[in-house]
Amino acid sequence: MLMLKVKNLHVKVADKEILKGVDFELASGELHVVMGPNGSGKSTLALTIAGHPKYEVVNGRIAFEGEDITGAKPEERARKGIFLSFQHPVEVEGVKIIQFLQRVLKNLRGIDEVEAYDMIFRAVQELGLEGSILSRELNVGFSGGERKKLEMLQAYLVKPKLLILDEPDSGVDVDSLKVIAGVIAKLHSEGTSILLITHYGRILEYLNPQRVHVLKDGKLVVSGGMELVKLIEEKGFAAVDADGTAVKA
Ligand SMILES: Nc1ncnc2c1ncn2[C@@H]1O[C@H](COP(=O)(O)OP(=O)(O)O)[C@@H](O)[C@H]1O
Ligand SMILES: [Mg+2]
Repeated sequence: MLMLKVKNLHVKVADKEILKGVDFELASGELHVVMGPNGSGKSTLALTIAGHPKYEVVNGRIAFEGEDITGAKPEERARKGIFLSFQHPVEVEGVKIIQFLQRVLKNLRGIDEVEAYDMIFRAVQELGLEGSILSRELNVGFSGGERKKLEMLQAYLVKPKLLILDEPDSGVDVDSLKVIAGVIAKLHSEGTSILLITHYGRILEYLNPQRVHVLKDGKLVVSGGMELVKLIEEKGFAAVDADGTAVKA
């Protein structure tokens, strides 16, 4: 079954066209990778799929499980099973993480507080995280790695149908990277479809992506397998031409 279909997507941010006709399809249970230079529109793509109001779809459409969600509100998309992990998570003072996670489980999965409490502590153990993290305030004073791990915990609890990860590997140390990749692999093996945005091939050593897309200047210029990651790691994004010819040659 088709999980996500992005068709001729053109997106404007602050009156500037950032995405210039993006097409791809992600089947249920697949893990796709999006790579691309800084400013190519990767975060824009992630935020647009999640329904961020700042990102205006001027052309094209997004379908989730066969249903057009191009105009749907972010909360509706979340309820349908789309989860976005941000590149820069926000700090929320006065909200303890345990309370926040209980609220998320209530809203998205209808799980009551008591059951949620147990689930959260179990998940923390399963993922090898520090239990003390739960009594801290949401993202306040968190290191990059801690934020990312917390987001992965959240994703693990929500069990979304589609998990969109915007650079979960940026600014994290090797040990954290292992934990984060482990959660992604676990969710993938449980059937979650994943769209993973990354700069580096390192995190992919732990994962088994079905497809790799390269985004340049608002367009997917080439799609393929892990050989693309290798090529980019060795020769940089310049090795992939705007029309993908450098790869085919
Ligand atoms: N909220 C915004 N306001 C203004 N410009 C933005 C905004 N978000 C993204 N852009 C611009 O869109 C382009 C693509 O950004 P982004 O999607 O963040 O790229 P990437 O994630 O690939 O680095 C950049 O030129 C960036 O400055
Ligand atoms: Mg980005």
